Amino acid sequence: MKVGIFGGTFDPIHKGHLAIARAAKEQFGLDMVRIMPARIPPHKQNKGITEDVHRLMMVSLALPVGEGIELDLTEFEREGVSYTSDTLALLHERHPDDQLFCIIGEDSLRDFVTWHEPEKIASLATMLVAVRGTDEKGFGELLAERNRQYGGAFQALTVPYYDISSTVIRQAVRTEREPHPALVKATDDYIHRFGLYGCKPTAVRREALKRYEELSERLAGTVSAHRLNHSKGVAFMSANLMAEWLDSEGILETPNGKRLVRRTLLAGLLHDCAKSLTGEETLAYLKKHRVKLRDDVLAIKGIWHGPAGRAMARERYDIRDAEMLRAIGNHCNGSVDMDEHPMEMAVFIADFTEPFRDHIPTPPLPVIRQIAREDAVFGSETVTAATMYYLRAIGSKETDDMACIYQTLHKIRTSKKGKGWKAILRKQ
Ligand SMILES: [Fe+2]
Ligand SMILES: [Fe+2]
Repeated sequence: MKVGIFGGTFDPIHKGHLAIARAAKEQFGLDMVRIMPARIPPHKQNKGITEDVHRLMMVSLALPVGEGIELDLTEFEREGVSYTSDTLALLHERHPDDQLFCIIGEDSLRDFVTWHEPEKIASLATMLVAVRGTDEKGFGELLAERNRQYGGAFQALTVPYYDISSTVIRQAVRTEREPHPALVKATDDYIHRFGLYGCKPTAVRREALKRYEELSERLAGTVSAHRLNHSKGVAFMSANLMAEWLDSEGILETPNGKRLVRRTLLAGLLHDCAKSLTGEETLAYLKKHRVKLRDDVLAIKGIWHGPAGRAMARERYDIRDAEMLRAIGNHCNGSVDMDEHPMEMAVFIADFTEPFRDHIPTPPLPVIRQIAREDAVFGSETVTAATMYYLRAIGSKETDDMACIYQTLHKIRTSKKGKGWKAILRKQ
């Protein structure tokens, strides 16, 4: 396969990036382009880059479905600084038959000599230099010089003129409420909903974000960095799903709408709060809180942390809200009447599809994400099916009611009652 690698901070991703990815696919016949956000970009350490979870959310919302432009988390797998040379070496090791193309900007062509291990990079990938026109001043000479230095690894990638930069966008969204023309709408909505880049949040009150910060700091003391990232991913993915659903009903920016988004955000954050316990500790914790598990649940150790999390959210994080506790308790398995509980659906879907997730043997996550944004029940149905697919692929058991949950959701979605969840949303 011919694979394009497009790295950057994507803070935020915009239409110019997508135009470059499409141009690379077209001009070099690439099978796919992998958008690879850098975790710690070597040139921008400690320079106030937006938190990983938001940059990944924005990318996952911006990517078109089915065009072969995908989010890639390779740089998130390693600790420390993300060097392009290490990333390319890793990709080459994993897929030795792939032909790699690394997409870089014109300024990177200039300072390529200062990069970490430039010879190694040039030996592992063809470097595609995004340029508006090859007749730009000095470009041809510089390209020729780099090709002499690095064995002819560089090629020009002509991209449509797109006069926009992430810096300009960040400044614009701070002061303007109007959708930014260079942003994909879903990304633009996300930025405003959660008040990124200093703009006023529209989907939650500022206090809710403060509460989120407090709880995530407490959670950080009890779970691994990996688990914390996942929890933040579920928090914002579920809250954004809820916001999307409320927005489609025109009730997002009402006090009730904002409260629902807030509650979803916090339930999403805490859904795995009991996951740090060992199996034995979980059983002891459940016993102490007088929670009895069904026999089929008891047979699957991997899902005990759902009911345990429900008890822990109550005890340690003082969550009393029945819908939130339910969403936390049922997040592993769902429930037969989950279509009447939008928050449960949001957390259930987000647990499977948040942007840090890297399930290999399931149907493509971008498709599930797209479905879920439009229809909560269809999204839950798809995630249930994908979960069964995943469990069977890894040879794990599933609960007795999982197939029934799938069939129920399927029936509800395809019957006239399919929009019932929207009515419930309006009443909550
Ligand atoms: Fe979980
Ligand atoms: Fe989870």
